[in-house]
Amino acid sequence: MGSFSLSEDVLKDILIHAKPLGHHEKPRNLNLGFGFLYYGVVRALRPQHTLVIGSGYGFSVICLGLAVKDNGQGSLTFVDPSYSLLRDGPMKTFGGRGTWGDERAVQDRFKRFGVEDVVTHFKVRSEELFQSYGQLGLPPIDLAFIDGSHSFGDVKRDFNNVVERSHKNTYVFLHDTNIYIREFLRHAGVKRWVKWLKQRDEAYEVIDFPFSSGVALVRVLEPSVCKQSQAYRQPCSLSSSS
Ligand SMILES: C[S@@+](CC[C@H](N)C(=O)[O-])C[C@H]1O[C@@H](n2cnc3c(N)ncnc32)[C@H](O)[C@@H]1O
Repeated sequence: MGSFSLSEDVLKDILIHAKPLGHHEKPRNLNLGFGFLYYGVVRALRPQHTLVIGSGYGFSVICLGLAVKDNGQGSLTFVDPSYSLLRDGPMKTFGGRGTWGDERAVQDRFKRFGVEDVVTHFKVRSEELFQSYGQLGLPPIDLAFIDGSHSFGDVKRDFNNVVERSHKNTYVFLHDTNIYIREFLRHAGVKRWVKWLKQRDEAYEVIDFPFSSGVALVRVLEPSVCKQSQAYRQPCSLSSSS
């Protein structure tokens, strides 16, 4: 028996409680903006394992998690150390709201949308999760959503860590490709990293949606090509600092 979660009430709940930050949403007419893309990609591709790195209030996790649930198969791993702009400062996070500090509140947030059985939250930084990826018995990544630390170096590291655990036709969303002031000030480097990926068309297919804060979708064509190229670890034409 199939299910379709995106009723009017659920759309309202997502917009109120999972509070999108820069996903081209329009609450007035229940438009999830990119949220429909996230939901649609999971329904269409049916990933077994989805990984989300970072989220303000859970918008990406809920949109992706509802689709995993509606597919009736798959799981979602969510990693976020629960940084808060006020507590930890703008060098640790810009949009972080400390939403993921209390595990019971985290569970309640997911229960509201009925995704508590498909989502597992790890309250650590992504680099720590990747270090213990094997020990945790986490499976290869079919779909990833990268929205943690936005510095060029951290986005590059998150992306490469995903590729290490990817396969042909793994898809990767990168949020915040269109935050040009922060990008100009070198406080963010998502767009710069996406530009670098576009130059590696033997390894990646890239499409950018430069609306609102922007999101890009990357298809891993052949992970062995990405891994063979040492350049994927050391982009030479672009500085690796943020
Ligand atoms: C800027 S918010 C995401 C806002 C996002 N645009 C949205 O709409 O929800 C970034 C989140 O990434 C988390 N974060 C920061 N550094 C991280 C890291 N190294 N690994 C995983 N998450 C991280 C923060 O705790 C914060 O909750």
